[in-house]
Amino acid sequence: MKRKILGAVLLAVLLIQLIRPDRTAEPVDPLNDLIAVTKPSADVETILRTACYDCHSGQPRYPWYTNVAPLSWWLQHHINEGREHFDLSSWGKASVKKRDHKLEEAVEMVEGGEMPLPSYTWTHADARLSEAQRTTLVAYFSSLSSGTNADVPDRGSQEPGK
Ligand code: HEC
Repeated sequence: MKRKILGAVLLAVLLIQLIRPDRTAEPVDPLNDLIAVTKPSADVETILRTACYDCHSGQPRYPWYTNVAPLSWWLQHHINEGREHFDLSSWGKASVKKRDHKLEEAVEMVEGGEMPLPSYTWTHADARLSEAQRTTLVAYFSSLSSGTNADVPDRGSQEPGK
C-alpha cells in the first residue's frame, strides 16, 4: 500500500514538470532600464541587481531549481506580480509623477524591510541587505525623486508597472 502511494506521488511530481510556466516577457529596452537611465554608483547597481532585479525587471536570473514545478509556478507568479507593480526595466517610460510615487513606496519598503521579499532572501543570501546597504539604497531612491532627477527625461506617461 505504502509503495503504491509513493509511486503515485512520484508520478505526480514527474507529471507536473510538464507544465512549464510562461516566461515570455516584454522585450527589454535598455534605454528605459533604471540602471541605464540613472547611472547609479557601483554599490547601488550591485544591490539593485542582486536584490531587486530578479523580480522587478525583464532580466530575471533563473537558477536550476526555478525549473522545478511547483516551485517554478510560484516563482513566476512572484516575478509577474513584481513586474506588474514595479518594473525597473521600463523606468524611462514612466512619467515623473509615477516615478515619484514608486520611489516613495520603494523607500518605505526598503526601510521597513519588506523588500526584497523575505521568501527570496532565504535562498539568496547575497540579497540580504545590511543596515548600511538599506541606507545606501534609500538614499539613492530618495535622490531620484522629482526636482533632483530633472536630468532624467520624462519620455511618456506609462506606469512603470505597465
Ligand atoms: C522575490 C521577488 C521580489 C524581490 C527580490 C523584490 N521584490 Fe519588490 N515586490 C515583489 C512582489 C511580488 C510585489 C507585489 C506584491 C507585494 O507588494 O508584496 C512587490 C512590490 C514592490 C513594490 C510596491 C510597488 C507597488 O506599486 O505596490 C516596491 C516599491 C518594491 N517591490 C520594491 C522592491 C525593491 C526596491 C527591491 C529590492 C531591494 C525588491 N522590491 C525586491 C517581489 C519582489
